Amino acid sequence: MEIRVRWRGLDRETLTSPGVRLSYLLTKENIDFPFPCGGEGLCGRCKVKFLKNPPPPTPAERRLLSPFELGEGVRLACCAVVEKSTEVELLGERTVVPDDFLLDLASLVSPGHPPREGVCCCALDLGTTTLALSRLDVCQGARISVEVMANPQIVWGSDVVSRMGASLEGKGEDMVRVLWDLLLPKLEGTSYLVVAGNAVMETILAGYPVDSLARYPFESSFPGGEWKEEPVPHYFMPLVGKFLGGDAAALLLVLDLMEVDRPALALDLGTNAEVLLLTHRGVRAASAPAGPAFEGVGITSGIGL
Ligand code: FES
Repeated sequence: MEIRVRWRGLDRETLTSPGVRLSYLLTKENIDFPFPCGGEGLCGRCKVKFLKNPPPPTPAERRLLSPFELGEGVRLACCAVVEKSTEVELLGERTVVPDDFLLDLASLVSPGHPPREGVCCCALDLGTTTLALSRLDVCQGARISVEVMANPQIVWGSDVVSRMGASLEGKGEDMVRVLWDLLLPKLEGTSYLVVAGNAVMETILAGYPVDSLARYPFESSFPGGEWKEEPVPHYFMPLVGKFLGGDAAALLLVLDLMEVDRPALALDLGTNAEVLLLTHRGVRAASAPAGPAFEGVGITSGIGL
């Protein structure tokens, strides 16, 4: 019988005999799907959705899944035993950075804006709290200057959750305007700007809605990797996925981490922190709000202000 597995960019078909447990099949296929309780049927976190022929729910699935989920074909990979050909969508987070994303990064150039002698470009590290604007000579590969300043969007909240809330309340255009008001005078004489920010910051600046980031599936409607011509030509670094934004992509690119020959850990500890672990099995990445931990924002005991 044939089983097709889909998981955020992964699309795999495999043949197997009836009666196989889905977790066994995923492991056999080297699909790095997480089983937080070790496949004991205790945590209910290894959710998958059967798009065809869902197997009858097991007692553990009846306990851990809602009647609505069961009716929609949702099952637990560590419990479901597959008896018929089917298609399964894995619902867990995929934290492995896909190989093709890394290849795209490796070949990243400036489409339409090739480096020319004497051309200046700027790179913006678009942080939730802080902006770092570097002026670069792209032919020489040299940084001419860097200016660090506060992100004026802070009036709409100090973390990405508040910014998403403001955007959902219709403040997105105002947030974009204050940012360009600050940046444009500093970009005079610049041919183009490259922007690397977390998923929320890039999505808001690109003018896309944040609904799908703020709620399930927690995925930006803006993939990044795009040029915009107004108000100045600017390029958004591609978003890795979920809350891993263009800053994580820039980290991979700039540090040339694909070349490392032993396990390495890269940390970008800002208001939103990205952690990238590189091993021979690929790159694993995660992000979490770190501002309260490192800046004392909103903490009322311990290191709070
Ligand atoms: S891994 Fe915990 S229920 Fe499946």
